[in-house]
Amino acid sequence: MKPMNIGLLGVGTVGGGTHAVLLRNRDEIARRAGREIVVRVAAARDLDKARRVVGPEIELTHDPFMVVRHPEIEIVAELIGGTDLARELVLAAIADGKHVVTANKALLAIHGNEIFRAAQERGVSVAFEAAVAGGIPIIKALREGLTANQIEWAAGIINGTTNYILSEMRDKGATFDAVLNEAQRLGYAEADPTFDIKGVDAAHKLTIIAALAFGIPIQLAKVHIEGIADLAQVDICNAEEFGYRIKLLGITKRVAAGIELRVHPALIPHRRLIANVEGAMNAILVKGDAAGPTMYYGAGAGAEPTASAVIADLVDVTRMHTADPDHRVPHFAFRPDRLSDVPVLPMGEVHSCYYLRMPVVDRPGVLADITRILADRKISVEAMLQREPAEGQEQVDIIFLTHMTQEKDINAAIERIEALPMTSGSVTRIRIESLDGK
Ligand code: NDP
Ligand code: HSE
Repeated sequence: MKPMNIGLLGVGTVGGGTHAVLLRNRDEIARRAGREIVVRVAAARDLDKARRVVGPEIELTHDPFMVVRHPEIEIVAELIGGTDLARELVLAAIADGKHVVTANKALLAIHGNEIFRAAQERGVSVAFEAAVAGGIPIIKALREGLTANQIEWAAGIINGTTNYILSEMRDKGATFDAVLNEAQRLGYAEADPTFDIKGVDAAHKLTIIAALAFGIPIQLAKVHIEGIADLAQVDICNAEEFGYRIKLLGITKRVAAGIELRVHPALIPHRRLIANVEGAMNAILVKGDAAGPTMYYGAGAGAEPTASAVIADLVDVTRMHTADPDHRVPHFAFRPDRLSDVPVLPMGEVHSCYYLRMPVVDRPGVLADITRILADRKISVEAMLQREPAEGQEQVDIIFLTHMTQEKDINAAIERIEALPMTSGSVTRIRIESLDGK
């Protein structure tokens, strides 16, 4: 059978990795796909650099639209990144009747609804395993492996760069900037690393996970996003003392009133497997009503792990491309005409436990004032710690861990605590997630 011809848009970290793995495992991949999968033409800006990556055989061009419109290309692999040009290219490929494989979570989080509608109308596939959690086959697991389940929640470490930064800061006392530079050198970080640091990349991925888990449209604007830039070393150390580790989590949960969609740092009990996921590794816990909790672990970024996911999609599309579009697995697991309009909850409605660190002047009555404010909002304290003030200092940190409470109550209590005359700075609030599989 004639090979399946691929057009590669981008020959950077992921594009280069995809080319390398396709070449190295060519025979094995052909045995699985039923025919060879061959990169025929690739687009990049710096063609000398691209030539060094792909070798002499592949046609190279500056013009990504030439790849998209190439008559012999059947699948376009969009590995350029960004959202404007990538959107145009993907829509052009779809309009031309080509299947698309993409690793671009930003593109899908912002333009996914439009792109999947266009693909549906044109009867082509848009596959995106590499867009969430690098080499982990989480899309396949959610879309197919767990299809019998009502998904209750999914929570995960879905950004390798920030997990790498948190791990290195904790273990080696490295500075934030030094670790970020290393993450960029290793090819983990986004072209604009503030997407990683501010939690935006994790939010992109979370919208995709939620769409697959609950059959809802992609709703990036409704994600509550907090990154790791404001995390202080003192909170990382305090968390360890209480038996927790701080991770940047993406969480989506179905509760009676709607769906939670949130990205933020969280304290996780040490003893959970997911608390011990380090470096650029990712892990996602999914709770289904039938399967119970399942966990998926692996490299969340990097050339070959991500290439593994891109090629899995190329093989899937190669196997399925002659099938009647109506008999393919729907892009988002649910039939496109059966999506749900269940609301995404505002953050104030979310329930969680909290870590609160309050800088106060160490005077009689301070603790009583604080506990009265907490009691007024029916916030129950699980643990408390106050250290001796340093020699000659009056200021101390008081740390509370609370039981489950509603975010709007915690916020109201924090506002009152910060207004107390003896409070000497802002209160640090970090959510605690038990992730105990319930
Ligand atoms: P890179 O920056 O390493 O590579 C981008 C490639 O696209 C380069 O070859 C670049 O060419 C090319 N390119 C960019 N703009 C144009 C243009 N206008 N015309 C032609 N070529 C262009 O990015 P990554 O490989 O890291 O990321 C690619 C995608 O994969 C992104 O969407 C990213 O979010 C996603 N992703 C990345 C992961 C990772 O670990 N890096 C993991 C999972 C997903 P040139 O070099 O000549 O400028
Ligand atoms: N910048 C992303 C991360 C790449 O660090 O996880 C993988 O999506």
